[in-house]
Amino acid sequence: MGYSDPRTMNLSNAKSFPGSGVVLAVVLGVWALCFAAPPPQADDPYTQLRERMVKRQIEARGIGDERVLAAMRAVPRHELVPAQLRGDAYADYPLPIGEGQTISQPYIVAYMTEQLQLDGDERVLEIGTGSGYQAAVLAELSKEVYTIEIVETLARRAEADLARLGYTNIHVRHGDGYRGWPEEAPFDAIIVTAAPGRIPEPLVEQLAVGGRMILPVGKGYQELILITRDEEGVHRQRLIGVHFVPMTGEVQDGD
Ligand SMILES: C[S@@+](CC[C@H](N)C(=O)[O-])C[C@H]1O[C@@H](n2cnc3c(N)ncnc32)[C@H](O)[C@@H]1O
Repeated sequence: MGYSDPRTMNLSNAKSFPGSGVVLAVVLGVWALCFAAPPPQADDPYTQLRERMVKRQIEARGIGDERVLAAMRAVPRHELVPAQLRGDAYADYPLPIGEGQTISQPYIVAYMTEQLQLDGDERVLEIGTGSGYQAAVLAELSKEVYTIEIVETLARRAEADLARLGYTNIHVRHGDGYRGWPEEAPFDAIIVTAAPGRIPEPLVEQLAVGGRMILPVGKGYQELILITRDEEGVHRQRLIGVHFVPMTGEVQDGD
């Protein structure tokens, strides 16, 4: 059938050389691979910036979990910051995202994520969606991510951005995260990305046995606290000093 196709006839002179259609297809394929289609993203400056970010800011400071490093290489942080700040998306500091809020420094995102020791099967709760960046990193490493944001414009924007980037395992809710997401509890991992003055007990209650929770705690001086739950109960460990925006809403009642 192929020999009667005038396009094949014109291109390959198939009558005098019956195998030439195949040869031509192979030659064209090789040509297309070499010249027509450059390796994916090889020239994308953001890919290079991301690679440099991972090497200099994250690996160099001791983050060694290969899955976390791969997730940090994969998530297009520049797609989740305000357009005018894209050039700074992979810099070594937090950035403003509007409404007086911030997207955290890449190293802190990687550090907190590594502490959760995700292996891919977990259901994760995040309080403080912000830009959606931390949620995207978590979504690369776990099964489902539930994330709550108290500022409605941020919640809606993150939800739209994450859908645009193709994340189907992230569920965004607008509201106060102090009481967690009881309908979906318990969670294998919980991360809070705004600092309460005290540990929100409803969140600890939603942590599964074997689960890990990380959050910044404190007013003024803050430190990251790692909470683990096992058969014997709940354990707390102080990690490093940090600086996050305050957690607002119910947790501030009575402060
Ligand atoms: C440092 S930013 C979060 C960064 C975010 N994880 C990201 O990747 O862009 C902290 C966020 O927590 C939100 N937040 C503060 N208190 C909250 C609360 N009670 N419930 C839910 N979100 C809260 C803030 O509005 C802010 O967007």
